[in-house]
Amino acid sequence: MKVIKVKDYNELSSKAAQLITEQIIKKKNSVLGLATGSTPIGVYQELIGKFQKGELDFSEVITFNLDEYYGLSPEHPQSYYFFMWDIFFKHINIKKENVHLLNGVTENVDKECKQYEDLIKKNGGIDLQILGIGDNGHIGFNEPDVSLNTKTHLVNLTAKTIKANSRFFNDVQEVPRQAITMGIGTIMRARKIILLASGKRKAKVIERTINGPINTKVPASVLQLHNDVTIVVDQKAASQLIM
Ligand code: PGA
Repeated sequence: MKVIKVKDYNELSSKAAQLITEQIIKKKNSVLGLATGSTPIGVYQELIGKFQKGELDFSEVITFNLDEYYGLSPEHPQSYYFFMWDIFFKHINIKKENVHLLNGVTENVDKECKQYEDLIKKNGGIDLQILGIGDNGHIGFNEPDVSLNTKTHLVNLTAKTIKANSRFFNDVQEVPRQAITMGIGTIMRARKIILLASGKRKAKVIERTINGPINTKVPASVLQLHNDVTIVVDQKAASQLIM
């Protein structure tokens, strides 16, 4: 695993945006795996800035988002569909048909998951996957468990995740209890992975992800088995890192 330590959140955002830009310049029809949460917001802002300056063209870029709350429609302000369009896609020249998000209100979850896996394959697989990390080590919504599901699947969110994510909702009761997420295998099949972590809250889990045993209790530790992972951490998230 390659670890890039940066000073703070701003530097983390510009470093990650630079890596994504290099990927898109190298291959203008890159397939990007994208993440939600607070961590990548600065990266998306940086990318929008580069687009506005004419330095980046998204017209051929294809995206697949990692996950979606089960039960939230695309119009719901807390859905990841809404989030992605609101903070990123509507500000760039990406084609709507090139944007893929899981349907949180599908009537057939198994079919939805299978179609998503097939679509990723049909588009040639993910070139670059961006990941955040949960305090509990989840990537996407692959929560700590005795076994990890490899493909896109429906998952029960842990109490810790529900509590952590309640900061975006009016009330913890409103947080969906389930989500659909790419599986660990889906993520591991990406050619290149960039994991971002900022702040003291992530320090312990970052140490366990990089130096701990590979363990389903810290799903992100599985990334140690991937041959092209870059972890970008700011000083606070790296504060417990022994290197
Ligand atoms: P955060 O979430 O970026 O809001 O910290 C990360 C995650 O839960 O995957």
